[in-house]
Amino acid sequence: MEVMDYAFFPTRVVTIQFPVTDTLNAELCDLLERRPELDDRSNMHPDALNLLRLAETVPAIQELRSMFLTGVKHWLEAEGIAGPEGIDLLLFSNRMVQGESTMVHNHPADLIGIYYACTAASARQPIHPADGEDYFDAGDGVLLLHDPRFNANLTSVCHRDHVKVVPRPGLMLIFPAYVWHSVTPHRGDFCRLAFSMNFTLRWPAGPEEYHALK
Ligand SMILES: [Fe+2]
Repeated sequence: MEVMDYAFFPTRVVTIQFPVTDTLNAELCDLLERRPELDDRSNMHPDALNLLRLAETVPAIQELRSMFLTGVKHWLEAEGIAGPEGIDLLLFSNRMVQGESTMVHNHPADLIGIYYACTAASARQPIHPADGEDYFDAGDGVLLLHDPRFNANLTSVCHRDHVKVVPRPGLMLIFPAYVWHSVTPHRGDFCRLAFSMNFTLRWPAGPEEYHALK
C-alpha cells in the first residue's frame, strides 16, 4: 500500500515585525494628520495617488519604501521566485476613524504589502490559527484573510477558511494580491493608520514578435 499526502496550492504569507518603529510611525501619523488629502481611501488602482511621489521629500516615506522592498524580497525568496527585472510600486494609505471598516476586496497587482503605523494595542500574537475561532467575532480592526479557493468554506472537509491577523504597529505582511481580505471595525477613538503597497512584477521583454503596439 502506498499512501501519499499532498497539500496543493498553499498561499504564502510573510510577516515581519520591525523592531524600532516608534519615530517612523509617529512621522507617518503626523504626515496624514497634517495632510489628510493624501489619504486616498484605499484607492489601489494604478492611477491612484501614489504616495511614493513623496519619497524624495519625506524621509518617512522613503524609509517605508525601503521596508516594503525588504518584505517583498523575503516573500520572493521564500517562494523561490527569481528573475523579475523590476517591480512597479504603488503606495497608498488607509486611515480609519472610529467605527470604520474595509469591505472584502483584493488588489489588481501581483503581491500586496501592508504596514501598520497605528493600531489598537494587543498582547496577542498577530496570527492565529482559525481552528475553533468564531469567524463572526469582529474584534478590533482585525485583518481577515479569506481562503482564495472559491467557496472553500462550503466544503465539509474544510476546517480552516480564514485567518485573522491582529495588527500591531511595526508589523508588515506580504501576500498574493488575489487573496480576498477585509478589516473589521476599528473601535478606538483615534485614527488607525495602515499603508498598503501594490507590487507588480516586471519580467524581461521577449523578442519583438511577442509584442504589439496599439
Ligand atoms: Fe487591501
